[in-house]
Amino acid sequence: MSLPRQVKIVEVGPRDGLQNEPQIVPAAVKIELIERLAEAGLAAIEVTSFVPSQWLPQMGDNDEVLRAVLSSPRRKPGVAYPVLTPNLKGFDAAVEAGATEVAIFGAASEAFAQKNINCSIAESLKRFDAVLDSASALDIRVRGYVSCVVACPYEGAVDPEKTAWVAGKLYEMGCYEVSLGDTIGAGTPASIQRMIEACTKDVPIDRLAGHYHDTYGMAIANVYASLELGMAVFDSSIAGLGGCPYAAGASGNVATEDLVYLLHGLGIETGIDMEKLLMAGQFILQQLGRQPAAKSAKALLARRSAR
Ligand code: HMG
Ligand code: MG
Repeated sequence: MSLPRQVKIVEVGPRDGLQNEPQIVPAAVKIELIERLAEAGLAAIEVTSFVPSQWLPQMGDNDEVLRAVLSSPRRKPGVAYPVLTPNLKGFDAAVEAGATEVAIFGAASEAFAQKNINCSIAESLKRFDAVLDSASALDIRVRGYVSCVVACPYEGAVDPEKTAWVAGKLYEMGCYEVSLGDTIGAGTPASIQRMIEACTKDVPIDRLAGHYHDTYGMAIANVYASLELGMAVFDSSIAGLGGCPYAAGASGNVATEDLVYLLHGLGIETGIDMEKLLMAGQFILQQLGRQPAAKSAKALLARRSAR
């Protein structure tokens, strides 16, 4: 099969990235980062999570950040600003702050569901059904996540059929897209392709997205393996920030800079301006006091300073 001609990137750095930073990043910095990412051409930027601040203090400014992004004169028309909502309480708070798109997050592993959202998979599906009902009444789009699609930090390898079953349920319940999370980045092209092939029995490939963490350095290879199967939506995190607070040792998502470098090198359109993306990455790294981690960003910045 030929590779897709166009890919949509869902930038998850402000949420998946910053949720895992030990320091709490000021709201003004998050807002500036999101605005820079939109200016770089990202069409979907996950802004924050409406979860209790005792679970995730890093997202405690959710209401302030979402309201500021949505009312900013720098807001880009056509950009989606989804937020995570684990239950109706979070959904109601997100809607109150102006959200027009939300994401629910489940798992293919029972142990991870318990640790991450404090309930069983079956109970989580009931909660998500309530969110989807309310969302449909308000015409709000809902994206679904499945975590631990190939491996779980507590249960080990996950059966592709189990992942396919949860992905199928989220799609059947009304999620417009299901993002497949390799939460601990343990997948390789073979296990990722087996898992996607199982999921496409119930969910069309154009309704699936890849969300690959880079713990073992496999994320970019897993993106390529997914492109080979026709997948055309990928989640990534600026500067490769991130991890999951309930998956010890997991590192960030594939870096947006590396993903864009791969896609542009393959002649695949993304709508992203690499120069502006690099500047957005530099901005957040300076705020965090870090050096670039994305290999392409390091190389491109070094080449520029040598000119
Ligand atoms: P719980 O403690 O079982 O909730 O947490 P509860 O319903 O028993 O309520 C306990 C208290 O929290 C109550 O308050 C509720 O009102 C309140 P109290 O009566 O004690 O004063 N509460 C809320 N407050 C604000 N917002 C809410 C909310 N819900 C209840 N939404 C819960 C269950 C799901 C809330 C919790 O487990 C949780 O928030 N978990 C989220 C953890 C998280 O954010 N994980 C990271 C994101 S997922 C991820 O990174 C993976 C992903 O990237 C994909 C991948 O890589 O695999 C998406
Ligand atoms: Mg993640």
